Amino acid sequence: MEKAWWKESVVYQIYPRSFCDSNGDGIGDLKGITNKLEHIKELGANVIWLSPVYESPNDDNGYDISNYRGIMKEFGTIEDFDRMLEKAHSLGLKIMMDLVVNHTSDEHPWFVESRKSKDNPYRDYYIWRDGKEGKEPNNWGSCFSGSAWNYDESTDQYYLHLFSKKQPDLNWDNPKVRREVFDMMNWWCEKGIDGFRMDVISMISKVPGLPDGPVGASGYGSFGPYSVNGPHVHEYLQEMNREVLSRYDLITVGECSGVTVDEAKKYASSSGKELNMVFQFEHMDLDSGESFKWNHNKIKLTELKKIMSKWQTELEGKAWNSLYWCNHDQPRMLSRMGNDSDEYREISAKMLATCLHMMQGTPYVYQGEELGMTNYPFTSLSEFRDIESINAYKELTEKGIIEPDAMFDYISYKGRDNARTPIQWDDSKNGGFTTGTPWIPVNPNYVKVNAKEQYTREDSVFNYYKKLISLRKQNPIIVYGTYKLLLPDSEELYVYTRTLDDRKILVICNYAEKEVAFELPEEFSGEERTIWIGNYKREKADKKMVLKPYECMVIG
Ligand code: NOJ
Repeated sequence: MEKAWWKESVVYQIYPRSFCDSNGDGIGDLKGITNKLEHIKELGANVIWLSPVYESPNDDNGYDISNYRGIMKEFGTIEDFDRMLEKAHSLGLKIMMDLVVNHTSDEHPWFVESRKSKDNPYRDYYIWRDGKEGKEPNNWGSCFSGSAWNYDESTDQYYLHLFSKKQPDLNWDNPKVRREVFDMMNWWCEKGIDGFRMDVISMISKVPGLPDGPVGASGYGSFGPYSVNGPHVHEYLQEMNREVLSRYDLITVGECSGVTVDEAKKYASSSGKELNMVFQFEHMDLDSGESFKWNHNKIKLTELKKIMSKWQTELEGKAWNSLYWCNHDQPRMLSRMGNDSDEYREISAKMLATCLHMMQGTPYVYQGEELGMTNYPFTSLSEFRDIESINAYKELTEKGIIEPDAMFDYISYKGRDNARTPIQWDDSKNGGFTTGTPWIPVNPNYVKVNAKEQYTREDSVFNYYKKLISLRKQNPIIVYGTYKLLLPDSEELYVYTRTLDDRKILVICNYAEKEVAFELPEEFSGEERTIWIGNYKREKADKKMVLKPYECMVIG
């Protein structure tokens, strides 16, 4: 397999609004990030994925951009950005920018022009259609509830928005739009940034005619079949690769909801014509139900293993995996897949991390994950900030599709705000995130769950992540080894091997809150075998073991 620095990297995702506030306005900012870069350096990650910091009216926390070359006022200035980039580079940290180009903000000058008249030069930058019999052009629902179309009185047409109505979709079939995007990307590359994480990039090409989609629980049609992995998406990404990506040494990852293994082989083919890797969502969708993500389902371990193993084995040698359990759009992994009780919070956080970080691919650590941060204990609707949760609650309860109490429970459990509460730096007021009033409440468990306490405690989650990351750096088998699943039918244990040349390691993870017996395969029982890392104090792996609740170990 061909080696590459981005395959050997570990990425740390920063959600700037919630990372560190330097000026007391309650909102994280670039100076705050600059002040805390040592945290990431110390952890051992070498790439930072920076969620959007561009100018934005903040309808979707920066994923609605009104100026691609400017910085959001609350976050600072372009000079602050330059200083952050310079310090990051001096510490050996690379910066991967979030590239949000499926849509802009409705306050972007292109859209301001576009909506002025049907013959405006920017009209075709967006997707405008006539209504059908006084209604929307088709039945598509938006990801943030309601129709995916918004009526604009001044020109008597509708524009498409797969997300909020303040996020109109760009028309990628227009070569001028592609040129603008590529120029902007080159501008950032010339500034010295190191890569792009591409927001919903699988959705940029829509099927002509925009046909109605199959109707779901909300009463709207799904745009998926006609807007995900659309007819020209690979052509446009290859063009982007020729015009931008191939000119620099970048790390690139495409956010590709709805991507299949076969599609991923095109997006992230080892031939290098498009992207380095994709974020797939099949494992994140395992606990979805009839009403999309809003439920309290648990992920079944056998299903999780099936999906992860499929991606591990089928991409091998053909494309490259990204590895993640969490990001700013998901609940905290610990509360979803582990156990956030006092007894098992740290133990299960380490187990989940081990299970992921020993796989083949580039691991992503979402801010706070390295501290074992948990979901927020919501008690009132007023604590929510996220447009997705707020709109879904309104729509599904008003239509009588889900009872208010149940829906409150679902958004509390699955809502994106869980991942967006501020980083807990220490046990001072607001967890040391801000001296002002935080834009979103800080999780009250900051008193015991915080970075300061963990830096010096040898067995902390932070120090465990550090060790995991340094093992990966020292052992190519963790990066490049071939993956093989053992015990596929176990509902408690996730066990797999990694093999490189004549070397083999074994990863054992107990996902259950109980003791589980495990017999070590003969080839791992030799005297020369040691436990590389584990989350309990166990000197040696015995032939017959009783694994403790959430116990994990790597035998090398
Ligand atoms: C995916 C992003 O990760 C999410 O936060 C955002 O709301 C949508 N794309 C729209 O940009």
